Amino acid sequence: MVVKFNLIAACCENMGIGKNGDLPWRLKNEMAHFTNMTTKTQDKCKKNVVILGRTSWDCIPEKYKPLVDRINFVLSTKKLDLSQYKDTYAFSSWDEIVNKLKDSEFRQRYEDVWVCGGSKIYEDAMDSKYFYRLYLTRIKKDFECDTFFPKLVIDNIQRISDLRVPQGVQEEKGIKWEVEVWENTKVPILN
Ligand SMILES: NC(=O)c1ccc[n+]([C@@H]2O[C@H](COP(=O)([O-])OP(=O)(O)OC[C@H]3O[C@@H](n4cnc5c(N)ncnc54)[C@H](OP(=O)(O)O)[C@@H]3O)[C@@H](O)[C@H]2O)c1
Repeated sequence: MVVKFNLIAACCENMGIGKNGDLPWRLKNEMAHFTNMTTKTQDKCKKNVVILGRTSWDCIPEKYKPLVDRINFVLSTKKLDLSQYKDTYAFSSWDEIVNKLKDSEFRQRYEDVWVCGGSKIYEDAMDSKYFYRLYLTRIKKDFECDTFFPKLVIDNIQRISDLRVPQGVQEEKGIKWEVEVWENTKVPILN
């Protein structure tokens, strides 16, 4: 059974992704792209898994938690009680996450795995043997940020096209953005 991590992130020109526990920008269509990619499945009986660090989870306004129509995985060293949230699981390590994703019963429930940040979560996912693709929105403007996307090791990835993402440069509120899709050159991944 193959586990594949799809990473999805949006960064501005200085590679920033966050500020004060929030996104530095409000771009509705870009957010719609995130929702579309992480939610859509081919098999309507299945959902996708989204993996978030505890800080990113905390950043989601209560009314939007859990991310709807997706199975939410939250990574934390703390003992989190997420029992009030539907389809939401807490994990204390990547090993626990991978074990759950490989569990044959659980495998029937999900289609794709989306790694949704933040910083260290992206870094660990890209360093892992399960790293498959990175869907990176480049926001073509500088924002003040305190959280950054990790350094991209270009030697290990190649740019590909995926017709599911908005094609070419998009613009909203006078801000241009474009989705880049990168694939790990070492796929297929053997477990
Ligand atoms: N632009 C984007 O695409 C995007 C995407 C996501 C987030 N963001 C922004 O980024 C910021 C949050 O990201 P962040 O990097 O500060 O934090 P984060 O990655 O969301 O969360 C960090 C926390 O995750 C837990 N964690 C990480 N690795 C772990 C491991 N191996 N084992 C167990 N727990 C682990 C720890 O939680 P505990 O402290 O509970 O142990 C750690 O403090 C916010 O501003 C958010 O809005 C932006």
